[in-house]
Amino acid sequence: MTTATQRAAATSANDTAGARLRCISCGAEYGLQEVVYHCVSCGDLLDVVYDYPAYEPESLKRQWLARRTSLLPIDQSGVWRYRELLPFLADEAAIVTFPEGNTPLLDAPRSARHAGVHHLQFKHLGFNPTGSFKDYGMTAGVSQAKALGMRAVACASTGNTSASLAAYAARAGLLAIVLIPEGQVSFGKLSQALDYGALTLQLRGDFDAAMALLLDIAPELGVYVVNSVNPFRLEGQKTVMVELLEQRGWRVPDRIIVPGGNLGNGSSYGKCLRELFDLGFIDRMPHLTLVQAHGAAPLYHTITGNDPETLVRVHARTLATAIKIGSPVSWRKAKRALEWTDGWVTEVSEQEIADAKAIIGRDGIGCEPASATTLAGLRRLIREGTDASVTPNEEVVAILTGNVLKDADYTVRYHTGELYEEFVTETRVISANGQVLPHFANAPVPVSATREDLTRVIGEHLTRSAEP
Ligand SMILES: Cc1ncc(COP(=O)(O)O)c(C=O)c1O
Ligand SMILES: [Zn+2]
Repeated sequence: MTTATQRAAATSANDTAGARLRCISCGAEYGLQEVVYHCVSCGDLLDVVYDYPAYEPESLKRQWLARRTSLLPIDQSGVWRYRELLPFLADEAAIVTFPEGNTPLLDAPRSARHAGVHHLQFKHLGFNPTGSFKDYGMTAGVSQAKALGMRAVACASTGNTSASLAAYAARAGLLAIVLIPEGQVSFGKLSQALDYGALTLQLRGDFDAAMALLLDIAPELGVYVVNSVNPFRLEGQKTVMVELLEQRGWRVPDRIIVPGGNLGNGSSYGKCLRELFDLGFIDRMPHLTLVQAHGAAPLYHTITGNDPETLVRVHARTLATAIKIGSPVSWRKAKRALEWTDGWVTEVSEQEIADAKAIIGRDGIGCEPASATTLAGLRRLIREGTDASVTPNEEVVAILTGNVLKDADYTVRYHTGELYEEFVTETRVISANGQVLPHFANAPVPVSATREDLTRVIGEHLTRSAEP
């Protein structure tokens, strides 16, 4: 809880461009120097809001494009290049950047066919310095931590946040503390947190427990929380939308599909699209579509249930561990984003996620399981013809959130037919019912180390691939 003295100091602080924190429910406002994640009056989440000057959109678009040729680190960043849209730092010297962003927008014909649409592009955020979309947000969150003079930064994480935080904290010279659910974080991500020097706490509990505990103890310990509950982090993530629109020559797609876990990412996109619309940078809104894993779909159950104002918490279960979250912190912001964009939320099965991931791989792109929910969700919406009324002619951009190497274990198990919904590693107890079938398997072929065998096997393969 923020003290009265801290609040007074914050109000008199020299805030930037009319920037301040504002509660999304009751509208209470707080200064940028306050270390506060929830509204003190009503407990809801906070936005960073600005009194933007009257921007001239076309000239700012030209300036942003021109910065791509600049040698300045903040111009090279796919976040800070668009700094006019996130003017919360009084001093740019606080910025901690690799740089991040600058991720590609890729055509994906096989994936488009799999979903049943004509125009599909992937914006692949897995090309970031630590391999996931978190870097867009972490540069903003850690820079704010530096501006506030914090010594330690912390997060609860399903893996990617911890990897990103650990790297940015190391660059900034801050102590990183990460809380991860024991045994539920892929080795790729765990290895990053260890290598970048974070204090890595393996909690005997799930992500939701880790998140609640961290928010409880952080004020007392004086550590700065950079989960997506932190509104500054979302300011960084929102620039994914700007970069994406710039890459499309500012042609607005009909639909943007995003995986949903803690729901910070989709929320930040909604805020950005709303701001771009209000400021005159775009003249229509794309439909934001969130996709959750069937066993971790609290927003889906909330919105399609009887009472959309009360979160339906679930005990999360999915092999897409990045989105194994049953009580998402940003659900109200995500709901707001869906309202602003006339969006939709759906859920997909483990089988659909795994198959979609393999198809994305066949496009030469690859991603981690959570990211593949986007293609799986699009396919489902097209097939089911639900209220979202998605049509094959829409221009769709799906956001791939993590690199294929983040969870190599999952990929190999899928292709070798060893991916099980309830896979217990130590005891090898496997439920045959829970097998995820490798419909698009590309299993390794054992071959003896002889000239004859090698030429036979490759020859057979060449013949098969030549068949119509
Ligand atoms: C790869 C990946 N995709 C999607 C998500 C979900 O993002 P959010 O929690 O912002 O909904 C995460 C969260 O950790 C993630 O790591
Ligand atoms: Zn409030």
